[in-house]
Amino acid sequence: MTEASWSVVDDFIKRKLMAAQDAQEETLRFNQRAGLPAIDVSPPLGKLLQLLACLVDARHILEIGTLGGYSTIWLARALGPDGKVVSIDVDRKHLSVARENLEREGLSERVELRLGAARDVLIKLKDENYGPIDFCFIDADKENNAYYFNYAVEFSRPGALICVDNVIRAGGVADPESSDEGAQGARRLFDFVAADTRVEATALQTVGSKGWDGLLIARVNGK
Ligand code: SAH
Ligand code: DHB
Ligand code: MG
Repeated sequence: MTEASWSVVDDFIKRKLMAAQDAQEETLRFNQRAGLPAIDVSPPLGKLLQLLACLVDARHILEIGTLGGYSTIWLARALGPDGKVVSIDVDRKHLSVARENLEREGLSERVELRLGAARDVLIKLKDENYGPIDFCFIDADKENNAYYFNYAVEFSRPGALICVDNVIRAGGVADPESSDEGAQGARRLFDFVAADTRVEATALQTVGSKGWDGLLIARVNGK
């Protein structure tokens, strides 16, 4: 099996189970024209995040790593009109592209974009007494994943879900010697989660249009 055949199956899943408008072809085209890297979640993963957010009846969602807002839109559509996504990104251009996509999809009211290094923005959010959140998606720089995860748990209500993208890194996560910074970040995240008695977690390997990677899913203990 190769990445090309994994992509064919991702396309099949998209065609069968997602309406063209849901899969946001237009957002992806707009991001490409704006020169953004094509590192948005795949359509099947975007929809999984949406379904998981629906399952916990999410009203308050935190996202770390907006890019052009592709995953943000999946998540915002899991909310009712009174719900809110707060999405953080360090790149001003990424956020302005995201803003245009959200505007076109009629979701601007439901999303608050916060510019800054996520470590700084998280500290500010804490000062603002942010939370409780029902769902968090972590998908920014991989080195800081354990740090972001700790904040996500602090902001969470009991029963909230925290999902972290790119935790497998083509298998690099299982290699202590990996030279991939992202894989080392994922290893630190697994160590952190393993020792964190506030959550129960698992991770799923995925193959698809984005190669071999995976998602960590944690549930914050409690009702
Ligand atoms: N979640 C998006 C993809 C995010 S790509 C989607 O699926 O559509 C990763 C994003 O993290 C990039 O936009 C990058 O600018 C941002 N990022 C990288 N380092 C960051 C940091 N330290 N703080 C906040 N955002 C960061
Ligand atoms: C990268 C980041 C991502 O969020 C992703 O899904 C894939 C790759 C990266 O920085 O290389
Ligand atoms: Mg990612």
